[in-house]
Amino acid sequence: MKLFESTSLGQISLKNRIVMAPMTRSRAIGNVPNELMATYYSQRAGAGFIITEGVSPSPNGLGYARIPGLFDQIQAEGWKKVTEAVHAKGARIFVQLMHTGRVSHAANMPADSQILAPSAIALSGQMWTDAQGQQPHPTPKAMTIDEIKIAVGEFARAAELAVDAGFDGVELHAANGYLIEQFLNPSANQRNDEYGGSDENRMRFALEVAEAVARRIGAARVGIRVSPYGVFNDMKPFEGVDQFYAELSRRLSALGLVYVHVVDHSGMGAPPVSPEVKQAIRREFKGVYILSGNYDRASAARDLEAGRGDLVAFGRPFISNPDLVEKLRSGEELKKADPTKFYTPGPEGYTDY
Ligand SMILES: Cc1cc2nc3c(=O)[nH]c(=O)nc-3n(C[C@H](O)[C@H](O)[C@H](O)COP(=O)(O)O)c2cc1C
Repeated sequence: MKLFESTSLGQISLKNRIVMAPMTRSRAIGNVPNELMATYYSQRAGAGFIITEGVSPSPNGLGYARIPGLFDQIQAEGWKKVTEAVHAKGARIFVQLMHTGRVSHAANMPADSQILAPSAIALSGQMWTDAQGQQPHPTPKAMTIDEIKIAVGEFARAAELAVDAGFDGVELHAANGYLIEQFLNPSANQRNDEYGGSDENRMRFALEVAEAVARRIGAARVGIRVSPYGVFNDMKPFEGVDQFYAELSRRLSALGLVYVHVVDHSGMGAPPVSPEVKQAIRREFKGVYILSGNYDRASAARDLEAGRGDLVAFGRPFISNPDLVEKLRSGEELKKADPTKFYTPGPEGYTDY
């Protein structure tokens, strides 16, 4: 079965086509990766390819409680424990660079940080903070051109630190309503300078980040995640979304990025992602295509055989089945994950499955 066959991703080889999807788990006390996290990832290194949880490239991107960063040496040293443990088991690992932008609260962030976004539009609803419980999202500060350039530079610097920390590459999180998608989506981006308005302008930040990161560490080590039709964090579908993502994919492909990773959360109650947009991305992006969203052994095998993608990412099944690859091989029944422990500190519901 194709799922278990080795393949390549840019310049690296993968022992199978099973990917561990990026999942925020909020175990990084003080935003620094630790031994517990190294154990968690190493337990799941049956996957050919692991994408870490969202990791902030900047103090400004640490919107959630206990998410890890990758902008200083202490964090990079912490990540070394993770990459060494994963490589020792023959898996490959990229870090997902996630700048939370307006999905944030000051109580979760270090003192010297700011809540930034393309426009000063607050996210609806509330979020968890360890210090003050549930809190409404504050109105972010609309970024100046200087702040945009600084953020681009932070992504490039984080990518450099990632390579130092032993990562095989980075995934840019341009999905799920975080900073990069806040620029892409007109519901969060109402700027009237060169970073807002037209499709061309709303793509500019994503493309500048991709270009800067690719220039710093080589495009063969850079992937990107996108979520057309996604509604998480107040994203809204917009007119011409299929053409928008086709064009974005064409340009990311021209930069030589190694993969595109497409989110589909329809299995989690989100609206469907049109097959047309998936086909358009497949057509325009010449690198590897990672499928994700509610896959099981049968649907993964079917979509790989049909050529809809090259690798298949599994999220929740990896939380509760560290030995997922063996279970998929043998057809053994999968354990269900406990959502009440998704974001709690400590080993419970994390390394004890
Ligand atoms: C606890 C949890 C945390 C997640 N955190 C992230 C994240 O940090 N970055 C991201 O791109 N997606 C994140 N996701 C989405 C997953 O990567 C994946 O797209 C989703 O779980 C659907 O795949 P599945 O049906 O195989 O679980 C998260 C999902 C879960 C369940």
